[in-house]
Amino acid sequence: MNIFYELHKEIPREGPGNNETTRKAYQTIEKFVSKPTILDIGCGPGMQTMELASLTDGKIIATDMNDGFLDELREKVNQQYFSNKVSVEKANMKSLPYSEGEFDVIWSEGAIYIIGYENGLKEWKRFLNEDGILVVSELSWLKENPPQEPVDFWKIAYPGADSINKNREKAEKHGYEVIDTIVLPESGWWEHYYTPLEKRISLFREKYQHNQKALNTLIEFQTEIDLYRNYSEYYGYVFYLLRKKS
Ligand SMILES: C[S@@+](CC[C@H](N)C(=O)[O-])C[C@H]1O[C@@H](n2cnc3c(N)ncnc32)[C@H](O)[C@@H]1O
Repeated sequence: MNIFYELHKEIPREGPGNNETTRKAYQTIEKFVSKPTILDIGCGPGMQTMELASLTDGKIIATDMNDGFLDELREKVNQQYFSNKVSVEKANMKSLPYSEGEFDVIWSEGAIYIIGYENGLKEWKRFLNEDGILVVSELSWLKENPPQEPVDFWKIAYPGADSINKNREKAEKHGYEVIDTIVLPESGWWEHYYTPLEKRISLFREKYQHNQKALNTLIEFQTEIDLYRNYSEYYGYVFYLLRKKS
């Protein structure tokens, strides 16, 4: 099994996030929609999908490219009797197999970076109906002039990272009105993501002590976690709540 997937398997989330912030974001956009059809892009193991399912009176299509995550989510959906509300489908966010205007809401937590924030805003817009809502969470700079160490790290790991103001401007440029932005609290990085990931890294250091390639991957993840531990005031995950302008 690929070390990346082995490391991430069995942790509750695939990126920073928590139910409280999913709920807060949904409750903010709720007044604009009724019985919405929601597309969840890059759902991973689906913590946010399940939270959305408990909040909405609409329907959700949860999509990802990883069969392991899709199976995991299908199981959760069945266990919690949400199969009348949630369908789980394999779909590539770069070539979505859906019709124009099919969705009232597109939701994507911690995944738009894969296609690029601006590109995602541009490409996904056509799948929203007139004045449909897009909610994405994206790594963003929270303060001006951050220290060199996180700047150097993210310049390589995610050169698209930008400030909240710049991301708001980009959304407006691509024809969205910004309803609100919400900064994920620090606990949302640790509880379901970095803390369980860090535990698995220590476990795997033992297992892969003679495999330098695997060890290098573990070191990369540990570096990312330590960086956040030291510089969390300078960057974070930000939810952008956007409405397509008609
Ligand atoms: C950082 S994870 C976020 C997962 C989940 N939303 C969460 O917050 O836990 C990104 C997800 O995007 C999925 N992904 C990667 N490339 C993709 C693609 N081209 N199309 C759809 N999903 C993709 C990954 O399998 C992964 O589950």
